[in-house]
Amino acid sequence: MRGGPFGTIMVIIETDQRQKTPELGACRLRRAICCMNIRKLTAADIPFGVRLTAQNHWNQLESDWRRQLDLEPEGCFLAERSGLPIGTACCCVFDDVAWINLVLVDKAQRGQGVGSALLRYVVKYLEARGVASIRLDATPLGQPIYEKFGFLGDFTLTRFEGTLPAAFQEAPGVEAMTRADLAAVCRLDEAVTKTRREKLLRLLVQAYPEAARKFAPDGELKGYSLARPGSHAWQLGPIQGSPQAGRLLLLDAARCFAEQKVHLDVPADHAQAVALAQAFGLRPQRPFLRMSRGRRGQENLALFLSSFGPEKG
Ligand SMILES: CC(C)(COP(=O)(O)OP(=O)(O)OC[C@H]1O[C@@H](n2cnc3c(N)ncnc32)[C@H](O)[C@@H]1OP(=O)(O)O)[C@@H](O)C(=O)NCCC(=O)NCCS
Repeated sequence: MRGGPFGTIMVIIETDQRQKTPELGACRLRRAICCMNIRKLTAADIPFGVRLTAQNHWNQLESDWRRQLDLEPEGCFLAERSGLPIGTACCCVFDDVAWINLVLVDKAQRGQGVGSALLRYVVKYLEARGVASIRLDATPLGQPIYEKFGFLGDFTLTRFEGTLPAAFQEAPGVEAMTRADLAAVCRLDEAVTKTRREKLLRLLVQAYPEAARKFAPDGELKGYSLARPGSHAWQLGPIQGSPQAGRLLLLDAARCFAEQKVHLDVPADHAQAVALAQAFGLRPQRPFLRMSRGRRGQENLALFLSSFGPEKG
């Protein structure tokens, strides 16, 4: 990489491609040099981002890209070649913990080092910001790349997907969250995730207040749930709380989103959340490996029923 880690830079990738030639029975070395430019991603690039997520059947909407830009305008990057966009990588900083997300390379441009160059760029950006821990949820395609950059696996999440059944009764004690609850919700979220995600939670509650629910018997918050729409399904999460709160919040979510398609990203070892997802008729769609670079993740998984999703844990 030439130049500093910020602003627009030129990246030259040298790819050694060894091919076995049948006539010689030996390895032939071909060195391809591809140039690309990495610059900040702006609102004008959102249609390209939406095209990439759609190309991969990911669930993001334009609003997800906008939220990412709102959260970290300096931490969203785009790779381009000959003036055409070819890939993205973004991050978000919550005090000393960072999340990397939306690492996507156009299908026609893969296997040429674009994803690695973008990742190297984001990691340098975050190192310069001085974060203690960089985290992400890896797809099986992304995991080998992250391992090369020193990320280690923390735990597996299972994405459950499906259409919820019609008839669920009201979950006693679960009610609408109000803005006055936000401080307590942020405290609970920090106790569970060990990350100060207030700016994210505030945006979610503001954008989808009808999906913000709480369980607070006698006025003490024991659990909360949020949700947001997607291009394929509602993403139900984060959902956090004690076993009693978690059960009631999941039942409440099943009632609120009855007959709608949903995603639920559940820690694979959370037996209660897995059992409820199965009881709702949802099916495992794919795994994500939550990974860390630097300080390891410290989530309290007993209270963690469903994540925000791969973008922010
Ligand atoms: C994951 C992704 C970003 C990689 O982008 P890319 O530009 O193809 O990655 P690179 O060319 O830099 O390859 C990085 C490494 O992975 C390897 N790799 C790339 N594609 C691979 C594949 N399909 N199978 C196995 N290895 C693969 C490369 O050989 C390379 O290894 P090397 O450094 O030892 O040569 C791209 O495949 C993608 O957009 N996938 C869909 C979205 C996704 O899953 N993103 C990750 C979210 S966690």
